[in-house]
Amino acid sequence: MTTPEDPNAPKDPSAQNSPVPANEQNEQKQPDSEAERHETDENTPLTVEVAPAVEEFMAEAAQQNEAAKDAIPDVGKKQGPYISFSHVFKSFGDFVVLNDVSFFVNPGETLCILGRSGVGKSVSLQMLMGFLKPDKGEVLVAGEDITRFNEMKLQDIRRKVTMVFQNGALFDSITVGENVAFPLRERGDLAEDQIFQVVRGLLEMVGVAGMEGLLPSDLSTGMKRSVAIARALASQPEAVLYDEPTTMVDPLMAHLLGDLIKRLKQQLHLTSIVVTHDMRFAKKLADRVVFLHEGKARFFGTMEEMEASKDEILQEFLSLDSLVLPG
Ligand SMILES: Nc1ncnc2c1ncn2[C@@H]1O[C@H](COP(=O)(O)OP(=O)(O)OP(=O)(O)O)[C@@H](O)[C@H]1O
Ligand SMILES: [Mg+2]
Repeated sequence: MTTPEDPNAPKDPSAQNSPVPANEQNEQKQPDSEAERHETDENTPLTVEVAPAVEEFMAEAAQQNEAAKDAIPDVGKKQGPYISFSHVFKSFGDFVVLNDVSFFVNPGETLCILGRSGVGKSVSLQMLMGFLKPDKGEVLVAGEDITRFNEMKLQDIRRKVTMVFQNGALFDSITVGENVAFPLRERGDLAEDQIFQVVRGLLEMVGVAGMEGLLPSDLSTGMKRSVAIARALASQPEAVLYDEPTTMVDPLMAHLLGDLIKRLKQQLHLTSIVVTHDMRFAKKLADRVVFLHEGKARFFGTMEEMEASKDEILQEFLSLDSLVLPG
């Protein structure tokens, strides 16, 4: 079953026969010692057996993303943004959520969306996926205005841009391993042992090593989100949209996810949007920040510009946030 939060999730693949049974996945050998680990990164060491397959997989993704970047049409003499909102309006009935909002994300950059509850952060992400349409304005994804795209063209966009939902939106009835394997199988060109190694490696990368054989219901919220990130990476997207990746996650997991998102940007040149309340997280990741307030993009600029801003509403948001998250 798919979760109601993901209106576009593919059909539940639980009916398919899995060539990697859950009990077999449970029996996977775990690394016995640090010596068995391949130190690709201080925070996310990969085990020796899976490192080459994962590194090859990531190199392939990085190459695709470089090509995707070059494919974005120029605006004037400069390369255009990968994602943008231009004068976007959105209401539900009489309730105005977005009232002339504009911002952009350049290819390979990370934008953090900040703002109080209910300001339209998730609605903005849903529009970028084509799940919601703006009443007015232009929504550019992969350099194309998607507002008039039909469902078939939106499917193409959703192959390029993946969203990581707060609850993970995993398939409940299949194992964690099969959830991550799902996009790999859809490609149709990977051998079973490659799939197995990439799944294992991606789970190691996101900090949930060895959980292939568990069901999503066995996992905590943070772990589900990590698995959702692994599944998103398995589809080799050009861009990832994260909806509050650190909410209900312990500080260690939040730190790991922050490092991971940063590393994905550096390694894969991934374009990312991160909705977050966590200013430390935003500081670590953001090339630019958009602060939504009462229907408007009250601030859009770099983190340094935001910190230097004299805007009282913005400063109040930042100071309240530092009260919630001291130091
Ligand atoms: N499909 C919908 N139909 C009607 N109203 C909606 C719909 N989706 C969102 N809204 C409303 O739009 C407003 C913005 O919602 P949104 O989920 O984007 O907030 P948010 O900024 O993500 O808040 P939070 O930080 O709490 O997640 C809310 O008042 C919400 O109730
Ligand atoms: Mg939200």
